Amino acid sequence: MKLTNFIDGNWQEVGEVDYTAVVNPANGQHLAEVRMSTKNDVDQAVAAAVKAQKKWALVPAPKRADYLYEIGRLMKEKKEHLAQVLTKEMGKVIEEGRGEVQEGIDMAFYMAGEGRRLFGETTPSELADKFAMSVRAPIGVVGLITPWNFPVAIATWKSFPAIVAGNTFIWKPATETPMMAYEMAKIFQEAGLPAGVANVVFGSGSEVGTAMIEHPDVKVISFTGSTETGRKVAELGGRHLKKVSLEMGGKNAVIVMDDADLSLAVEGILWSAFGTAGQRCTACSRVIVHKDVKKELENLLLTQMEQLTIGDGLDESVKIGPVINKNALEKIHSYTKIGQDEGAKLLVGGEILEEGKLAGGNYYAPTLFTDVTPKMRIAQEEIFGPVVSLIEVGSLEEAIEVNNGVKFGLSSSIFSRDVNKIFRAQRDLDTGIVYVNAGTTGAEIHLPFGGTKGTGNGHRDSGVAALDVYTEWKSIYVDFSGKLQRAQIDTE
Ligand code: UN1
Repeated sequence: MKLTNFIDGNWQEVGEVDYTAVVNPANGQHLAEVRMSTKNDVDQAVAAAVKAQKKWALVPAPKRADYLYEIGRLMKEKKEHLAQVLTKEMGKVIEEGRGEVQEGIDMAFYMAGEGRRLFGETTPSELADKFAMSVRAPIGVVGLITPWNFPVAIATWKSFPAIVAGNTFIWKPATETPMMAYEMAKIFQEAGLPAGVANVVFGSGSEVGTAMIEHPDVKVISFTGSTETGRKVAELGGRHLKKVSLEMGGKNAVIVMDDADLSLAVEGILWSAFGTAGQRCTACSRVIVHKDVKKELENLLLTQMEQLTIGDGLDESVKIGPVINKNALEKIHSYTKIGQDEGAKLLVGGEILEEGKLAGGNYYAPTLFTDVTPKMRIAQEEIFGPVVSLIEVGSLEEAIEVNNGVKFGLSSSIFSRDVNKIFRAQRDLDTGIVYVNAGTTGAEIHLPFGGTKGTGNGHRDSGVAALDVYTEWKSIYVDFSGKLQRAQIDTE
């Protein structure tokens, strides 16, 4: 199967351009080939989106929302199929695949509801017989650049608010996971979304991403990916005065205090560290543990980690799937060496798994380091794999300091039964998301998603906050006094 672009409501001809293989990370099986598009393809898509946007902006928002209800309904109907495709191309276990598709469905219905809200404000004017209000206006054409780790959910966080607010979009999915974008484009088509509202252009960041960012008619860029790439996106976008919304890396920690329910903490750590094979921006990659419970926690983690079954995510009994590709595998493995060289103690894991059924896939053993100190590279840098570092501390204050002592600020968590400690922590943890007595993953779509410091640049995906990215505030003053009234002057 050859995946071509979806532009102006049509599937592009296969044509004489380059295609790249899409491979199942669980077994190396060839799944499809995806178009490596050119600037010319981007130009076509933007032209279609510009044309469509003028009409789309005039469609009443509740009517725009009706398309989202239909998209949500179709996603629900095809949920199992979508989850299977997701697991095949991305590798996450099928239960998580279903969860991710559900996240997209939730977003469809939530944002559809915004069609009957999209609240602005009315407010008194300082002058008599004058009316003042602000409304959310669409911005125009937006460019969406999405990662492979959540190939459908993250795309819905961006495209659905864009749609309901009256924008049209060009979506460049990650080259590793184009099949989900292809499935979504089919759903957009089936839902009857007018031509040009949703456009999907496959290809590399350097060619397609750059062309989108540099295109004068693309007014907003929303990007999720690495901090390194995000910085380049912001630099280039800034040069073109674009609004750039960035969602980048994390180095998330679970704090375990001496009064915590340890078995609950272990469950939270395992789920958030090893779910999606550690390839979530929100994944727990540090455990900051009080010295009085460190040994016990270590032992509990080790015992539980033995139960984690590794393999093809399509097998319902498997708990940890493969990582995305060989490069990721090598990067993760390099951190095991880095950790050992730095003097951390490897308790379990730290190896590439390729025996028996795992041959041909990209599998990494769940890895636990202890005696890690806060400044070690394994405690500072995003590894994006199933690797956790245990850091010992003596107090809540120290735990918070260690948590905040990294260049990222996405998610954090505290396990404690002391309400005072919990409230102090939620105030002082410098992350966009804080969990209490739960791991670092599990964000729900109706709350803002994003982080501080190297994780973001002040914008948020999800929740009502997402609308701020895809709308422009317009303030409207209506003077019905019939005379010139000068603000700030004729107020007496
Ligand atoms: C991501 O890893 O980029 O909270 C998204 C979570 C998921 C979304 C993760 N709902 O882990």
